Amino acid sequence: MPLPLDSARRLALEAGALIVSAINQTKRIDHKSAVDLVTDTDHQAEALIMDGLRNDFPDHAIVAEETSAGRPAEGPCWYVDPVDGTVNFVHGIPHCSVSIALLDNGHPSTAVVYDPCKNELFEAERGGGARLNGQPLAVSGAAALGDSLMVTGFPYDRRENPDRYLSFFKAFMVTARDIRRFGSAALDLAYIAAGRFDGFWEFKLEPWDTAAGWLLVEEAGGVVSDMDGAAFDPWSKRILASNGTIHQECVDLLIELRAEQGSS
Ligand code: IPD
Ligand code: CA
Ligand code: CA
Repeated sequence: MPLPLDSARRLALEAGALIVSAINQTKRIDHKSAVDLVTDTDHQAEALIMDGLRNDFPDHAIVAEETSAGRPAEGPCWYVDPVDGTVNFVHGIPHCSVSIALLDNGHPSTAVVYDPCKNELFEAERGGGARLNGQPLAVSGAAALGDSLMVTGFPYDRRENPDRYLSFFKAFMVTARDIRRFGSAALDLAYIAAGRFDGFWEFKLEPWDTAAGWLLVEEAGGVVSDMDGAAFDPWSKRILASNGTIHQECVDLLIELRAEQGSS
């Protein structure tokens, strides 16, 4: 049986090659909702990764975005997002990723996030640190939210609840140094691991968006939690990740906002 990291890395690179070959071509686009898109490349990349994982680890479960059947039973389970940042991909914006993580009874042990357009391969193993193209990663040294570059995303129900999400955006906008919305949650987390961003919050993400980035951030010395600071559950649809130093400031802000806006 291959090492999980070797297998995840090989499959992420192969899926990444599919993304690069298609990003500037005409795509077949289907709508999962008004603003949630899926392309042929999402399906092809997911099939490639699932075939590879099933071949290498026939006893492991797989939760993959386009074919997910829900929360798995206990045991080793792979979480796969074949194209994270599909809207960027559809528009030919070179900022998307392949995200693959192995969780053992809910805890991540292996993670790969690959940005094929920039050829940046982020990877981590529990206890072994996080790396970018082989170089060790560490979170930023930002000491306060006021000196921090935050990143977030707007959930797929943003047309139904715009004011709710904008209230969180506004609160961080007037507190942090600045905010980015780049469109790939897996890369948002990888960038925190790399010390590029200092903090990240988002609602309604799915476990395949966050599972790999979760381990990258922790192995780079950062913190990932629920928005109230409680232990992170990738099925909870709420995430706060940071360099650790600014975490409590973010938790305090989010607790206050969720009290005002409703805590879902
Ligand atoms: C999306 C991206 C985006 C986030 C969305 C996700 P997809 O994933 O991670 O940054 O804001 O909520 O669904 O659909 O491109 O795999
Ligand atoms: Ca995703
Ligand atoms: Ca996706």
